[in-house]
Amino acid sequence: MYSKTLPAGIDKILWSETKIQRRVCELAAEIEQDYLKSISNKHPRYQPIVAIGILKGAFIFLADLIRAISVPVEPDFVRVSSYSMGVNPGQLHFVHDAKTSLKERHVLIVEDIVDTGLTLSFLANEFKKRGAASIKFCALIDKTCRREKEVQLDYVGFHYSGDAFLVGYGLDYEEMYRNLIYIATLSPSAIQSSS
Ligand code: XMP
Ligand code: MG
Repeated sequence: MYSKTLPAGIDKILWSETKIQRRVCELAAEIEQDYLKSISNKHPRYQPIVAIGILKGAFIFLADLIRAISVPVEPDFVRVSSYSMGVNPGQLHFVHDAKTSLKERHVLIVEDIVDTGLTLSFLANEFKKRGAASIKFCALIDKTCRREKEVQLDYVGFHYSGDAFLVGYGLDYEEMYRNLIYIATLSPSAIQSSS
């Protein structure tokens, strides 16, 4: 149940808790079917899918998604950031790297929201170099308006063509709102008043 008044800074709820949970279950079913088709768990070298969540935003989505998948899944996490200055400003690097060896593993990268696409293409390149058997992308939200790098998303929860900043269900604005059970737009005045 939502209280009638939304928290300060929140404009409009886009996807309720019920809608998110239903969509997460649909994605999990799709993922499970695809992996069951392509990898046999009877194979002697069978290993669980490695689901790599991108911190911090994807932590709630990853937790719900993998609990809805009934084939074995091994969760891990990365955190990436871009250099603000120095020799390569804007270039992405790992702040936290996955601990699992990805050699010959089926990797599912789990992202909360794809915006420019730079993070996913950086991770795909990195994981290819490590010899992953396959790399697939699962994004809860595909936000298309600022896309710079084309990325082929294998699983998408929701498409968003607007340009608002979205928060809730793991998504933050200045570390706020991650614990909202729904996903909502942040009011532009909330952004202006904090900058
Ligand atoms: P790319 O590299 O695709 O990165 O630009 C996506 C990351 O940018 C953040 N992001 C958002 N976070 N609300 C958020 O809370 C948004 O509307 C939003 N748009 C982009 C997010 O961290 C994501 O992982
Ligand atoms: Mg964020």
